[in-house]
Amino acid sequence: MKTRITELFGIEHPIIQGGMHYVGFAELAAAVSNAGGLGVITGLTQKSPADLANEIARCRDMTDKPFGVNLTFLPILKAPDYPGYVQAIIDGGVKVVETAGNNPVEWLPMLKDNGITVIHKCTNVRHSIKAQEIGCDAVSVDGFECGGHPGEDDIPNMILLPRAADELEIPFVASGGMADARSLVASLAMGADGMNMGTRFIATKEAPVHDNVKAAIVAASELDTRLVMRPLRNTERVLTNDAVELILEKERESGAHIKFEDIEKEVAGVYPKVMIDGDMNAGAWSCGMVAGLIDDIPTCQELIDRIMGDAEALIRQRLEGFVAA
Ligand SMILES: Cc1cc2nc3c(=O)[nH]c(=O)nc-3n(C[C@H](O)[C@H](O)[C@H](O)COP(=O)(O)O)c2cc1C
Repeated sequence: MKTRITELFGIEHPIIQGGMHYVGFAELAAAVSNAGGLGVITGLTQKSPADLANEIARCRDMTDKPFGVNLTFLPILKAPDYPGYVQAIIDGGVKVVETAGNNPVEWLPMLKDNGITVIHKCTNVRHSIKAQEIGCDAVSVDGFECGGHPGEDDIPNMILLPRAADELEIPFVASGGMADARSLVASLAMGADGMNMGTRFIATKEAPVHDNVKAAIVAASELDTRLVMRPLRNTERVLTNDAVELILEKERESGAHIKFEDIEKEVAGVYPKVMIDGDMNAGAWSCGMVAGLIDDIPTCQELIDRIMGDAEALIRQRLEGFVAA
């Protein structure tokens, strides 16, 4: 399939794997890229720019296809060494960066001067237009369904994607709630040029996370995610567990007075415990409503081949069938 996104990134299929903390290691990024999509290493999971440089080199050993790095700009006072991470990306010859979390304008000159294509993840139309204005090459439009941080506007993709299509000239991918060929074809119909998946790629053979995590996603239904940290205006969609229910109880009790410290135990330092140790009650970890559509653990190649094969059948048979007569 050829779209503006496959052309922009030099990939075979319009499918991107979004950056995911403690999931987006070289193994997953390389597997997605080898299957014809765009794999993405999560920059900040690497403890230092030197570690990121090493992860990029490991990925390059596993694939000769394009892959990207995610740079998430966190809402915290003590910022990570962003200049160092950007330099590691440039030195590593990476040609695609997925930015998220905050306006990437400060980093665009450095990235663009080094021939790097930037796709910025946005949860509303206003930020998507801003991304276009400041010179991003593409947008990942992340609907309310998404795993991770859906923002505070709560607009689902059925509205958000056509709205983005009405406003944007640069290409965008649909993100949040994407799992299969139906997601892809519907996104293309609504004006996107491809799709970005997070949760779906965790439940793959190559995702280097504990089997408990994959099993939890397969077992979960679309009813099993919760929104935490809304009173802190840092809303995160997570899979429910004991720790998450405790956070929600604290949020109900403290209302607008809740502070980060009140829930720190349930949200800080959780990812290695969940993703590496498989301790599923260690705290809150991101997961999308799309878990309800995930019931197997294929390889990335099997997953992407299935999506593309089914998408072609959907377009040529089901959709074409409606208008052929
Ligand atoms: C476990 C997990 C960790 C994530 N970590 C990050 C992250 O560090 N940075 C980021 O930009 N997005 C992160 N995301 C969001 C994904 O990149 C993607 O936008 C989102 O998962 C799309 O929604 P979906 O899960 O419904 O496919 C994370 C998502 C999950 C499920």
